[in-house]
Amino acid sequence: MKRQILVLLAATLFTACNLGEPAREGWFTDERTAERVDSLMQLMTLEEKIGQMVLFTSDMDVTGPFMRDHYVESIENGMVGAIFNAYTAEYTRELQRIAVEETRLGIPLLFGYDVVHGHRTIFPIPLGETATWDMEAIEQSARIAAEEATAEGLHWTFSPMIDVTRDPRWGRIAESSGEDPFLTAEVARAKVRGYQGDDLTALNTMLATAKHFVAYGEPQAGRDYHTVDISEITLRNIFLPPFKATVEEGAATIMTAFNELFGVPASGSEYLLTQILRDEWNFNGFVVTDYTSINEMVPHGFARDDKHAGELALNAGVDMDMQGAVFHDYLEELVEEGKVSEAVIDQAVRRILTMKFELGLFDDPYRYSDPQRQEELVMTEENLEFARDFSRKAIVLLKNEDDVLPLSDDIGSIALIGPLADNQREMIGSWSAAGDYTQSVTLRQGIENRQGNRTRIHYARGANIDDDDKTGFGEAIAAARQAEVIVLAIGEYALQSGEAASRADISLPGVQEELFLELAKLNKPIVVVLMKGRPLTLERVDEKASAILETWFLGTTTGDAIADVLFGDYNPSGKLPVSYPRHVGQIPIFYNHKNTGRPKTEFKFTSKYLDVPNSPLYPFGYGLSYTTFDYSEVQLSSDEMAMDDVLEVMVTVTNTGDRFGEEVVQLYIRQLVGSITRPVRQLKGFEKIGLEPGESKEVRFELTWEDLAFYNADNEFAAEPGDFHLFIGTNVEDTQKAAFVLRE
Ligand code: NOJ
Repeated sequence: MKRQILVLLAATLFTACNLGEPAREGWFTDERTAERVDSLMQLMTLEEKIGQMVLFTSDMDVTGPFMRDHYVESIENGMVGAIFNAYTAEYTRELQRIAVEETRLGIPLLFGYDVVHGHRTIFPIPLGETATWDMEAIEQSARIAAEEATAEGLHWTFSPMIDVTRDPRWGRIAESSGEDPFLTAEVARAKVRGYQGDDLTALNTMLATAKHFVAYGEPQAGRDYHTVDISEITLRNIFLPPFKATVEEGAATIMTAFNELFGVPASGSEYLLTQILRDEWNFNGFVVTDYTSINEMVPHGFARDDKHAGELALNAGVDMDMQGAVFHDYLEELVEEGKVSEAVIDQAVRRILTMKFELGLFDDPYRYSDPQRQEELVMTEENLEFARDFSRKAIVLLKNEDDVLPLSDDIGSIALIGPLADNQREMIGSWSAAGDYTQSVTLRQGIENRQGNRTRIHYARGANIDDDDKTGFGEAIAAARQAEVIVLAIGEYALQSGEAASRADISLPGVQEELFLELAKLNKPIVVVLMKGRPLTLERVDEKASAILETWFLGTTTGDAIADVLFGDYNPSGKLPVSYPRHVGQIPIFYNHKNTGRPKTEFKFTSKYLDVPNSPLYPFGYGLSYTTFDYSEVQLSSDEMAMDDVLEVMVTVTNTGDRFGEEVVQLYIRQLVGSITRPVRQLKGFEKIGLEPGESKEVRFELTWEDLAFYNADNEFAAEPGDFHLFIGTNVEDTQKAAFVLRE
């Protein structure tokens, strides 16, 4: 009887509050939502509140250690407020029914998942997405991902991953936007806009998660989950900016990182989760931990046991515990013992419930779990068409000797070789959500789709990705002998990057380089198509290949997208978001490094290696085109700038080749002297333009003091007067230079 009355009362309150309400004004600050949340919270027991702070995985997908297999029972008991790794309209509807119909208050579940680069229609891995430098397309890819994911009952994606990383040994570089904070922040903003739109009640928008807070991308020795030990200044200038950008953009949630920082695991860091996130940035979404990262404070040596870890995490500012069951098991006891306050719990629950209201789940808890929408919206023709275009934009042309590419439409024969040339499984990369690799188009299929009978394809696998079996070499060489050109698809397998996939040696795995060298001896044009999740050390390939295409893992439409570039239906326009080392010993290698007191010269006692140059094999921002671009001299509106001035920067770019092409015009600055030493280059702007043959366009950038500012010796964000150099060009090393002075 009591149960029925409560449920009725709760239902009335939710309905009354929802009648005729506008969706939302501002992000998560709507007063009426706050009233609704408060009225619901008045009905909740402490146990029910704690339940809202618990996130468990279902057994549908595995993205970490599986610790609790009784998630359904926990839903029935009202002891879990959110579920991840469960999708499809049917399954989410079934779990939602349990929460809504079988618990005392019927509070709907929130369904989360790693929708990282597409949901069913898989786009390029994020490093590849970033290589497009096309923020509109990135936003659109996130919109499509949200549309597909929400049609399968999901409300919340654990994306964007915005860990700046300068270490390609770290497998999660694949999921990142590379080494630059400015570019990463732009991508982060675009993705948040794409996922969340401007109305979370809309059926095709979902909550975004900025992760992993913070500095997870700089683990010692590139080993996943390893210690991070950086300075406060580096934290502020390199690792925090993308997170700050997502908070400004209204990201609903932030995920803590696994690593420690300043000796404190991120999930126990009051400094990060409260002082920076809440007090400095006014973040008003909720904080979720990464998978069991509260429990991991014990092996970190920061908490005595799980219960102690729970106390530290809650008091630091964690709102939701992913999979660790620490809040589930100990929060009530901790309140009774006075170790944590119910007020802090209330605050966390308020934040979580706010999101459930924002999504409209109290109006209709099943609104996202609609089999018909799923049928209509997932992997549509339009989504696949977009994916193909987006994927080809992600391809970076690294080398093109004697214009070997594009191949002629009339080419009679191609030797298509390599373990990745006809391999569906690897094409969708790591973190491919609900992507089905059997739907992916291989390179072989892509070439056949385009050329039909026009071109004879001599296919041979040649080698496996990662073993020492050379028995396929003979067949590969025989195939190559019969063809006009060799197209060799080599790289890594998908799970050689991503989580828990660090490599100490980042050369081509197995005998693939040997296979390449054997084929290169035939003196035929050889086009290398790279597929992988990270920069590899490719000096020997670079030396001997005629052409090289970096294609990352491009997702569902891989083969068609690569064929578009191989045959010139699309002129490649991708640019590297990360420097490619020549040798693993150069790591960390990144363009925005400091100059040192002994910058390299021929003289012995300067900063250099005896055996390898300092420079990368391919620099940040690098990527060729089938056409050529000419840059004019850089023009400035003035060679002096006051603090409140806007400095205009102009350059004219001309397409000097004979086909349409797109160019990413990049702007870098260098301040010559600062209260702390300044990087030799910093990206501060870019624009992607398209130019017909012979066409010129003026590209204009505007710089304000904020573009010149940094966290200085006093840990304050400020611009310091002084001399600046400014560089505009096609990559960080190939630029036009200008100079200006910033006055007080
Ligand atoms: C662990 C990963 O670090 C995180 O990025 C992911 O969102 C969770 N597992 C959930 O799968």
